[in-house]
Amino acid sequence: MTQRDDWDPRAASVLVDQRRAYDEMRETCPVAYSEFMGWSLFRHADVMGAVHDPATYSSASRHLAIPSGMDPPAHGRFRAALTSHFSDDAMAALEPRSREIAIDLLAPMLAAGDAELMESFATPFTLRTLCAFLGWSEQQWECLGGWTHGNQQAAFNRDPAAGRALAGLLSEHVSANLDQHRAAGHDDVTDALLETSVDGDRLDDEQIISILRNWVAGEGTVAGGISLLALHLAEHPDLQDRLRNDPSMIPAAVEEILRVDDPLVANRRTTTREVEIGGRRIPAGASVSLMWIAANRDPDAFDHAQEVRINRQSDDGLVWGHGIHVCLGAPLARLEMRIALEELLGRTRSFSVSGEVRRSVYPSDGLASFRLRLS
Ligand code: HEM
Repeated sequence: MTQRDDWDPRAASVLVDQRRAYDEMRETCPVAYSEFMGWSLFRHADVMGAVHDPATYSSASRHLAIPSGMDPPAHGRFRAALTSHFSDDAMAALEPRSREIAIDLLAPMLAAGDAELMESFATPFTLRTLCAFLGWSEQQWECLGGWTHGNQQAAFNRDPAAGRALAGLLSEHVSANLDQHRAAGHDDVTDALLETSVDGDRLDDEQIISILRNWVAGEGTVAGGISLLALHLAEHPDLQDRLRNDPSMIPAAVEEILRVDDPLVANRRTTTREVEIGGRRIPAGASVSLMWIAANRDPDAFDHAQEVRINRQSDDGLVWGHGIHVCLGAPLARLEMRIALEELLGRTRSFSVSGEVRRSVYPSDGLASFRLRLS
């Protein structure tokens, strides 16, 4: 028997305000089926249960995705081989260049006094920082940006042909960089990836491409995150002043603002056995979507869940996920978002929303466009 849809994730009524729609689903139909997303889990407790039970909720993917599309024990071995790239030392080494990029991009925005944030800052800043991190020439950011955007469109339109074409383009792009690094060593992250072995075997190009596909996509989420942080601050001048006076509060503000307005909608799992959850029976082999935005705003998990309280103490936030697949790139994402806010706040007296704010829709979140007035 085919399962009837409980909701339509792409309905205009959902897309007009995804956060509100997901909040409503969490309260009215917390385990919901749709042909488009499979079984969506909206409640914090259900999402936590799934991420901490990888034997039942498998991440294995038909496409090579290292390490996100892998299960234990292989997942742990590949992940362990990549962790050192995001160490405190590696982040400290990247910070000066990332800050220079931020300052360089902010200068014309400050001179103009008014700018569109995604195009002028968030997208180029995150992708140029990634290029610097990988030891690639920074001009390549535009090509990577086109790929991220096209990929999200293809996922939304369920267009596998477009998805494959884009995957091919990214592969060619990464391969060209790998060849260049093989020809002339630079002692950077790309060289280290070329030298990495798992279980005694060197990573091949296809594996490195799959790793970097994940990292490039992660930067799209950071750009979305920066836009949501800037929007919240633009709408709350009191918090801007608080952070200008005490920039050491910025990291806590980043975590809490993104808990309430999360830049990532969902990630997938596949059930390895039949499960009963929230009174619904989910068969083995079913696709399950972990609805991060809804889970992060669940009043059963957080007091006054929809309010930003930057002194909140909680280890239950799900911005970065939880469990064995918790975000590998979180140190890089946090570094970029801290630098973006330090520079934006430090170089302005105030900033506010100027004109229309357009939100992105699934599978990306964050803002599609957003003008800021800066002084
Ligand atoms: C604000 C930005 C970001 C957010 C909110 C975010 C969020 C997440 C979440 C929720 C997961 C868990 C997925 C799951 O359980 O299926 C995840 C995993 C992952 N993220 Fe991020 N991410 C961000 C940026 C990045 C960046 C910049 C990178 C790399 C450069 C990155 C690399 C990864 C990888 C490799 C995984 C898979 C880890 C594993 O399977 O062990 N992310 N991320």
